[in-house]
Amino acid sequence: MYGGGYIFDEPNKKQLREEEQHDEPEKLAAFEERIAKGEKIEPGDWMPAEYRRQLIRLIEQHAHSEIIGALPEGTWITRAPGFKRKLALIAKVQDEIGHGQLLYNAAETLGKSREAMINDLLSGKSKYSNVFNYPAETWADVAVIGFLIDAAAIVNQVANAKGSYGPYCRALERICYEESFHLKQGHDAFIELATGTPAQRDMLQDALNRWWQPIMHFFGPPDKVSSHSEKLMQWKVKMASNDDMRNQFLDAYVPKVWELGLTLPDPALRKNEATGRWEYTDPDWDEFFRVINGGGPCNAERLQVRKWAEEHGRWVRKALMRPAERKTFPAA
Ligand code: COA
Repeated sequence: MYGGGYIFDEPNKKQLREEEQHDEPEKLAAFEERIAKGEKIEPGDWMPAEYRRQLIRLIEQHAHSEIIGALPEGTWITRAPGFKRKLALIAKVQDEIGHGQLLYNAAETLGKSREAMINDLLSGKSKYSNVFNYPAETWADVAVIGFLIDAAAIVNQVANAKGSYGPYCRALERICYEESFHLKQGHDAFIELATGTPAQRDMLQDALNRWWQPIMHFFGPPDKVSSHSEKLMQWKVKMASNDDMRNQFLDAYVPKVWELGLTLPDPALRKNEATGRWEYTDPDWDEFFRVINGGGPCNAERLQVRKWAEEHGRWVRKALMRPAERKTFPAA
């Protein structure tokens, strides 16, 4: 069993049921008043069962995204072009795993054990970000992921770091510092390809064309479809709606792509200067729901790698958590 959490799977369900019965109106009103004042909610504080459940869902999915997200880029460590690119990529991939660690710790403060979270990831019960279910086919994919997906993640995380749940916000703050470095390394690789040989530019343009739709999906379904946004925004877990975050991202990064003479595969993409909103062709939302529900090109492969890691790392966890059970060998 992993350490860190204070309640494990079964008691956790019992606790949620008990909290549901005690979501008394006065407590709920006091809780919502604290949130309206901008106070942070801490693990020992009273919170509605639905707030706890939503936070576990969201932070857990975020943690899974970090460790699964290390896989597409991780495959390029051995093939990175040059020593410095390789060093930077190793550091980045290592950081992503560290982000997973921070986020699992934050989710554990809400009462779900890490073991239960990993089990839910491996069984397919728990989701993780859509973008990590696509292959990184060329080095240009690494540049697009490092630049634009890390940028998208920063837009989301900088906003939500100002949210209401203390442990999640503190984890996000630390993550954002490291993500800023990731963005720089991605941008640097992106610029190098964009200003390189015709073959390099073509490779980058091809990667952009393939990644554009998953990036548009990254911020979640449109506000009118998003099932959780309203409550999560009321409780300041999400600090902006899916469409607002998507708009913020387009505003900051589309001009940076266009100024390099590259194109994005959407002829309708333009900023409406009168409204300040970006207009675009709706990405294929059927594809999005297929991918997040296990039907993307790499879902099976990603989970297979995690299962392998889980099984082959079991003896290490056992040795760390239960040192008394270690076998002792007679001295030679
Ligand atoms: N990838 C996978 N699933 C996604 C998704 C994405 N990019 N965007 C939305 N979904 C899922 C939601 O989890 C939800 O499914 P569920 O009810 O089975 O859990 C469903 O689509 C409906 O979406 P919505 O109601 O908008 O979900 P949400 O309020 O959780 O918002 C995010 C989606 C991604 C904006 C939100 O979860 C979030 O901010 N997460 C933390 C950051 C994160 O995980 N980043 C990814 C790695 S860097």
